[in-house]
Amino acid sequence: MCGVVGYIGSKSAAPVLIDGLRRLEYRGYDSAGIAVLSEGRILSRKETGRLANLEKVLTDAPLQGTRGIGHTRWATHGAPSQVNSHPHFSSDEAVAVVHNGIIENYAELRDELTGKGHHFLSETDTEVIPHLIEQELKEGAASPLAAVLHALKRLRGAYAVGILFRDEPDAVYCARLGSPLIIGLGDGENFIASDVPAIINRISSVIYLNDGEIARVRQDRVEICTLEGATVEPDPQAVSFHSEDAECAGFETFMLKEIHEQPRILRALLGQYISADGSIDIGPGLKPDYFRKLNRIMIVACGTAYHAGMYGKLLMENLTGIAVETDLASEFRYRDPKIDPGTLVIPVSQSGETADTLASIRMAKDWGCRVLAICNVEGSSMVRESDAVLFTNCGPEIGVASTKAYTAQQMIFALLALYITGIRNDLTPEQIKGYLSELHEVPDAVHYVIQNKETIRKIAEKHHDGPSSLYMGRKFNYPTALEGALKNKEISYQHAEGYAAGEMKHGPIALINESLPVICICTKTSDEVYEKMLSNIKEVEARNGRIIAVATEGDIEIRKLTQDVLYVPEVRDEFTPIVNVVALQLMAYYAARARGTDIDKPRNLAKSVTVE
Ligand code: AGP
Repeated sequence: MCGVVGYIGSKSAAPVLIDGLRRLEYRGYDSAGIAVLSEGRILSRKETGRLANLEKVLTDAPLQGTRGIGHTRWATHGAPSQVNSHPHFSSDEAVAVVHNGIIENYAELRDELTGKGHHFLSETDTEVIPHLIEQELKEGAASPLAAVLHALKRLRGAYAVGILFRDEPDAVYCARLGSPLIIGLGDGENFIASDVPAIINRISSVIYLNDGEIARVRQDRVEICTLEGATVEPDPQAVSFHSEDAECAGFETFMLKEIHEQPRILRALLGQYISADGSIDIGPGLKPDYFRKLNRIMIVACGTAYHAGMYGKLLMENLTGIAVETDLASEFRYRDPKIDPGTLVIPVSQSGETADTLASIRMAKDWGCRVLAICNVEGSSMVRESDAVLFTNCGPEIGVASTKAYTAQQMIFALLALYITGIRNDLTPEQIKGYLSELHEVPDAVHYVIQNKETIRKIAEKHHDGPSSLYMGRKFNYPTALEGALKNKEISYQHAEGYAAGEMKHGPIALINESLPVICICTKTSDEVYEKMLSNIKEVEARNGRIIAVATEGDIEIRKLTQDVLYVPEVRDEFTPIVNVVALQLMAYYAARARGTDIDKPRNLAKSVTVE
């Protein structure tokens, strides 16, 4: 979704802003713009399409000045066009605003302001903000800060804004309500940004602005107050990752880099959550006694994180005596889920800013539930609003298609399930030790799959060209089928559908013909699921289907039924999804590469979905 940056210092602002916007590109956008305070005027440049287009405009018509704001826009109100691009201005061009979020009452504000003589140029909701501030100044607001306070109080909806005043050149303002925004502290210069990776290479610490706070950012200090005008003491925090973590590090894309990071991240999570004595430690947030009495868990998430939640449900139901449900946050928030205060709600999110998941947390808190988040981003809204957090600690995930966050979420669910099992004596300590020892084999198995990427590439290149593909799995690997299909459609733009293999006969079998690739997740299991999957594969084979299997290393028999096999090492049934999905991530990756798409920034997608 939209990205916001701002700069105040002694360097030329335009290149700093462009660099920040480039690092925000992964959030998804369709136009970009910057405004710079230049010799007593605010000047702007905007362009549709990729940032390179804006850079070209800036080469032809550079902007001089040492404070400015910038924006990448993901269109909501009004098509991607130059006039709809941010920054937006007041009529007198004394106020410029960049905004991420949605102003729900913009139509009525616009009517009111039009009645007072304001003239609007764009179709955006954002444009009301500079006009409101201008109107507040006209009506006698004592200062730019007072005007901002009054104006923001009139807005309904969500915003993270950066504001530049022509007549207050020593400050850049910012504020947030429901959309992410941080302030980065540098050496004699300060920044605002939608997230830390945008400015990680330039800052020493960060202030996470809270909802309902406004900051006046100066070159050498930051002043914060609430919407009511109460002073807030800034609380700078060290940043827990390095600037290299947000770089491509020699890989052709961020996604490929992030796929390769998985074995290391999974190993580190095992080290982090398992103590020296072999016990699982999930931190002090929720006490063991709470888990002893718990009888229901509700997992809420979107997209890939939802698939991780489906895996979490299967695992926790399998290992503990607790009833577990998983729901899409966008459905959960509008249905009537009959949740009582005894239910533990687990939101799962890479970004910690997904609007629907955040709304679900707020509902859960209103119902009196405890909230245990699984999240990757420190200081994110979800982290701050939950009772406890299990961090996935992947470092910044820049590729729009989530990979390392997914396997890390799965690993956290495995650890959490075993932790709860231990507390409730559902399994003996010896049994848990056995599970943990087998969980330790997972990072090496994932490493092995990645080592095998050339084979996966050849298979992907052979099957990438059709209009559609089908992914099938059962039990623990039903979510793997959904996630494999999601990865494929996101980055290769090939229609892909994930299905529970047992459902084949109830509809999708009608699709089978010799040209439809059917990706069957058929790793060996200790129960009857493997045999059932083989039967499903035979049904596809009988209809001349083009079968690609994900199978256990050494399973020679499966070759007879399939066109191609992606072999993966054997791990315990419950943990196969963490390994199998990596083969599907690579399969989608190489299919997308063969189809020539923009893998890290697929069309229409945003990394962090901060609006409904
Ligand atoms: C994953 O590849 C997607 N881009 C998307 O489904 C994502 O998982 C979803 O938007 C949820 O995001 P979150 O984990 O940041 O909440």
